[in-house]
Amino acid sequence: MNDAAKTLIARAMSEASAPTSFSAYAPSNIALSKYWGKRDRARNLPLNSSLSISLADWGSHTQVAPSDTGQDQVSLNGEALALDTSFASKALNFVDLFRGNNETPLNITTKNTIPTAAGLASSASGFAALTRALCGCFGLDLSEAEMSLIARLGSGSASRSLWHGFVRWDKGVAENGADSFAHPVSVDWPDFRIAIIPVDTGPKSHSSRDGMNHTVDTSPLFEAWPAQAEKDCNAIERFVREKDFTALGQHAEANALAMHATMQAARPAITYLNARSWSILDQLWRARQKGLEAYATMDAGPNIKLIFEAKSASDIQSEFPDAQIIAPFEHS
Ligand code: DP6
Repeated sequence: MNDAAKTLIARAMSEASAPTSFSAYAPSNIALSKYWGKRDRARNLPLNSSLSISLADWGSHTQVAPSDTGQDQVSLNGEALALDTSFASKALNFVDLFRGNNETPLNITTKNTIPTAAGLASSASGFAALTRALCGCFGLDLSEAEMSLIARLGSGSASRSLWHGFVRWDKGVAENGADSFAHPVSVDWPDFRIAIIPVDTGPKSHSSRDGMNHTVDTSPLFEAWPAQAEKDCNAIERFVREKDFTALGQHAEANALAMHATMQAARPAITYLNARSWSILDQLWRARQKGLEAYATMDAGPNIKLIFEAKSASDIQSEFPDAQIIAPFEHS
């Protein structure tokens, strides 16, 4: 069966122009309703829809240009990488989806603006920026929805990094992935805030890819996840549209905890959250009882992310002094 994203790329590349240097930016994103579990592992087709908020100027700047050495070159944050490193080989495998057997040597330069101390993954922004830069480099006429479909092949969450603000990735039902891409949820919410509380910014114990596959394969609790996650995603989209912050926060936090519960029931268990993560959650829940309105969400790592509104920013900063606050609707 033809893969929808590959078919799109092939069609667009049949009218490609000679490669020219092109730079693009994509923001990182945090899911408020999580993607966890695939129905097709090769295509990153999810078992449930998900909804995220993009992180404004925290993301990836990627430039794709013809290489002047006759060889591929890949650099990350100013450092030239050996082509067999994990970052370079993932990037080049993705580039090969475009240039195919046509040996166009390219120079790929990526700079992440996400502070390393925030401990956030950058594969979402990285593949979204690389998709945009490749389309620009080859002069491809593809819509943002089509670029989202293509970015998904690099990493599922990258499909949501083509836009700022709230973004929903519909799971789709087509076997070839033709209807599994994201779209922006056009709600402007200038007072919406995110805080990242770094817990451990070293490499994670398992990649999210391995973690989700292992959970699907072994966790008896996973059975309940796809239907609940779909419900949460629909509810969260509705609360975003209604700007009902309390309901949004409650559902986002419950969705994240449910995702982590599926992993704890995996055999052997996967525990991305460590003792410090739980102690921050405990502190948050105590502060909430005293009136601080903020909710937590956690991904495939120990760091805690909070969502709250601008009016709570100074209370958040004094409760969690190392929190890094992001205003998702204030971006360049
Ligand atoms: C917990 O998008 O990194 O952050 O598709 O295998 O590359 P692959 O996985 P990835 O998974 C993200 C998982 C998550 C939840 C989310 O972002 O929705």
